[in-house]
Parts: sequence; structure tokens; C-alpha cells
Amino acid sequence: MKNIILTGMMGSGKSTCAHLLSQRLGRPMEDTDDFICRLEGRSVAEIFAAEGEPHFRQKELEAARTLGMCSGCIVATGGGMVLQREAMDALKQNGVVIFLDRPAEQIFDGESLEGRPLAQGGKADFLARFRVREPLYRGTADLTITDFSSPEATVASILDGLHRLGETS
Ligand code: S3P
Repeated sequence: MKNIILTGMMGSGKSTCAHLLSQRLGRPMEDTDDFICRLEGRSVAEIFAAEGEPHFRQKELEAARTLGMCSGCIVATGGGMVLQREAMDALKQNGVVIFLDRPAEQIFDGESLEGRPLAQGGKADFLARFRVREPLYRGTADLTITDFSSPEATVASILDGLHRLGETS
């Protein structure tokens, strides 16, 4: 059974939706940030501060390779996962990729982005980061979700899309 892989910017709701999907479908879930933090024994912010972004990205690639070998799992990725082609290839070989296309401006204005080192540079920086990533999110997605009226509505939209793709019963 294929994995369900959620991509999108920091704060787009990937982890929340992954939890809800896991409950709705009765499937296990994993969050790549949590996976890395458990292995490293420290938080994302601590990893960035001590080792820098390249080290974090290496760990993220390892997480993608490991989780890509699972079956039937819901995987919430870190917002920068799409930056590494190899990581996305590893996740896509046994996964349906779902892009949570929540407007970056809405995220920045409405969500707490605490604990995210790459979201501390202000709004212009956040929006510029999204513009660089946007083609990667779109290019790797099997399904794009645009309903963010509530987490339940987003999950309903995901389930509907999966059904159309023939990926759930
Ligand atoms: C990052 C997103 C974060 C985390 C790290 C880097 C990014 O995950 O992986 O802070 O580059 O967008 P979330 O998308 O879960 O916040």
C-alpha cells in the first residue's frame, strides 16, 4: 500500500492533517522533523544552531530514504524536503504526494512559526522562500489542496482527492 506524503510550507498544517488522516484511515503516521529529532536527541532549532542547515538536510534525506521504504504510512514532511530531489524521489517511489497549497502570506500572518529557524527572517524573506519552492511543490505533487477553512475541511478535501486518484477505498 502506498504512503501518503504531505508537503508544503512551514505552518501549512501538514502535521495536523497527518494526525487527522491517521485517525480517519487507521494508518500509522510519521513526521520527518520528529523522526530526525528522535535520532539526533535534540530539537530542529538546536540542530540548525549547532550544525547548520546542510547537516539538517542530510538527516532529512536519510529520513526520506527510511520512510520511503514504509508501506501505508502517512508522512508529514518538513517544508524544505522538496529542495532535495533525491529525497522526493525516495518518498515518491512508494507514495502519493499531496501539496498543501496554503497561501504563504496567510500562513505568515496567521500562524505561530516559533521553533522554525528559517521562518525568523521576516515576511518578505518567508514569501521569497515560498516563491523559490513553489515550482518544486507543484512539480512533485500528485494532488494539490487549496481548502484551508478548517483542518477537517482540508482532510476531507485530501480524502476526496485520494479517492479520485483511486488511492483509498
Ligand atoms: C523547514 C521546515 C520545518 C523544519 C525545518 C526547516 C523548511 O518543518 O523541517 O525548520 O526549510 O521549510 P515544518 O514545515 O514542519 O515546519
